[in-house]
Amino acid sequence: MENVQQERIAATATTPNMRDYENTYASMRWEEVEKQFSWHETGKVNMAYEAVDRHVEQGRGSKTALLYSDASREESYTFADIAAQSSRFANVLRGLGIGKGDRVFIFMPRTPELYFSLMGALKIGAVVGPLFEAFMETAVRDRLQDSEAVAIVTTPALLGRIPRSELPALKHVIVFGDDVPSEEGIVDYRTEMAGASEEAQIEWLGREDGLLLHYTSGSTGKPKGVYHVQNAMIQHYYTGQVVLDLQPDDVYWCTADPGWVTGTSYGIFAPWLNGVTNVIRGGRFSPQDWYATLQKYGVTVWYSAPTAFRMLMGAGDEVVQQYDLSKLRHVLSVGEPLNPEVVRWGLKVYGHRIHDTWWMTETGGQLVCNYPCMTIKPGSMGKPLPGIEAAIIDDNGNELPPNRMGNLAIRTPWPSMMRKIWNNPAKYEEYFRLQGWYVSGDSAYRDEEGYFWFQGRIDDVINTSGERVGPFEVESKLVEHPAIAEAGVIGKPDPMRGEIIKAFISLREGFEPSEELKKEIYTFVKVGLSAHAAPREIEFKDKLPKTRSGKIMRRVLKAWELDLPTGDLSTIED
Ligand code: WTA
Repeated sequence: MENVQQERIAATATTPNMRDYENTYASMRWEEVEKQFSWHETGKVNMAYEAVDRHVEQGRGSKTALLYSDASREESYTFADIAAQSSRFANVLRGLGIGKGDRVFIFMPRTPELYFSLMGALKIGAVVGPLFEAFMETAVRDRLQDSEAVAIVTTPALLGRIPRSELPALKHVIVFGDDVPSEEGIVDYRTEMAGASEEAQIEWLGREDGLLLHYTSGSTGKPKGVYHVQNAMIQHYYTGQVVLDLQPDDVYWCTADPGWVTGTSYGIFAPWLNGVTNVIRGGRFSPQDWYATLQKYGVTVWYSAPTAFRMLMGAGDEVVQQYDLSKLRHVLSVGEPLNPEVVRWGLKVYGHRIHDTWWMTETGGQLVCNYPCMTIKPGSMGKPLPGIEAAIIDDNGNELPPNRMGNLAIRTPWPSMMRKIWNNPAKYEEYFRLQGWYVSGDSAYRDEEGYFWFQGRIDDVINTSGERVGPFEVESKLVEHPAIAEAGVIGKPDPMRGEIIKAFISLREGFEPSEELKKEIYTFVKVGLSAHAAPREIEFKDKLPKTRSGKIMRRVLKAWELDLPTGDLSTIED
């Protein structure tokens, strides 16, 4: 451990938002941050108001809020425009009888309409469930069923993946695009928006009223609905200041999709709560395209993920030199371990340190980070956010001394902490089983200087290209295939994607292993669940290792794969 802790990259710039980490940490009071919001005066709040309409009211309506481009569109919207469009959408929803607390899902590619819909739904106090556009029918069904969503906003291309006959609670499907079918329950976005007023009454909410439902994967069971409330805005705003280092004239780009919590907390709320211009790029990843986006808009603050940085690194240094990235001031990363190699490379080609940040869907906001004013130790996630107490604890809740690996835990509560797991109080309680702590499921250690170092997941959750995949969800899909008797799924280390999904499969009587069958199985998961959940590697086995109670032992599969000792096998079946 000593060796990796030696390397340091000192801070070179100063920033008005945080001049000194230790002093800020010592003096931080959440009560002071809370004074930024309307409930300070009125007792009521609404995320859409604080992030959008407030800027209009305070004379910043003509400031650019959104710079959008994809292969066929290039548009720009002011805060006044977003306020008007989201009000129109709020009126559309109200006209359908939707209101406070109702779950409204958004299932569409990143276009301005996604952002208008999301803000519009928040304006009426609905709880928004954002879904990745890549989700296929099973993934969509599970999430809509669990949440009992009443409405979903989508596009004609995605409509076929919403199994409406299996979703009795779902009353309205709002479709944005050409050729919207005229069917019972289907609403044409464009027609309704054109007829709606640009003035909408904001639904004033309490701090503990709902905001978002983000589904994410665990190691067992179906994806769980992580429920966030309005109060999260305190942390979104504050981390926008001290972690993203947002300043009034910044042009900020977070590359994440709102289907992932990074794409809402930091792709929408943090920049807009701070009144900062937000760049959204639709379409797929390509190094040329991304650098062109940084150049075209003069992006100053850029938040992305290790997988993306590794792919950019793979594309070569020459590509970088073809673009003018001179406006860039601050670069950040989240989602998986950020390799020291990538940090060194970033410094060389961009001339900037890449600042790692650690947090989770459940935490709602950043918790352990590197800050512009602080020395970076490449490979370390950094230090706790001012206002947050992070620790390494053993399984009984005792804090461990420096350099000892254990559970990365956070002292409860903090402003953006999830408030429940939808329909699953027992799951929720598991995170808080050790008195006074939130147990993250990650293992880490803290060095003598207080830097945290990520070591791995404690459970079986797979992190592929920064996306969390639950092995159980993939296994459940696999066993729906007629050839498959049993399946066990693990994450296999991969230099580009962090991990890839590997499936061990035993076949039913009468089926033979073959390369064709592997391809068929891959496609089966890709088409039924989603592309990122499909197993890139498949290995057929006569039998899978199971406990006496019949649970597939992924730990043993992993040990086979990595040539590691299999550990205690006392519970294994004969
Ligand atoms: C992993 C929401 C290493 C970790 C942002 C965590 C990281 C899980 C980092 C959360 C990081 C996230 N270094 N690992 N900086 N950030 N992770 O909810 O295992 O999709 O528990 O992310 O990603 O995944 P989620």
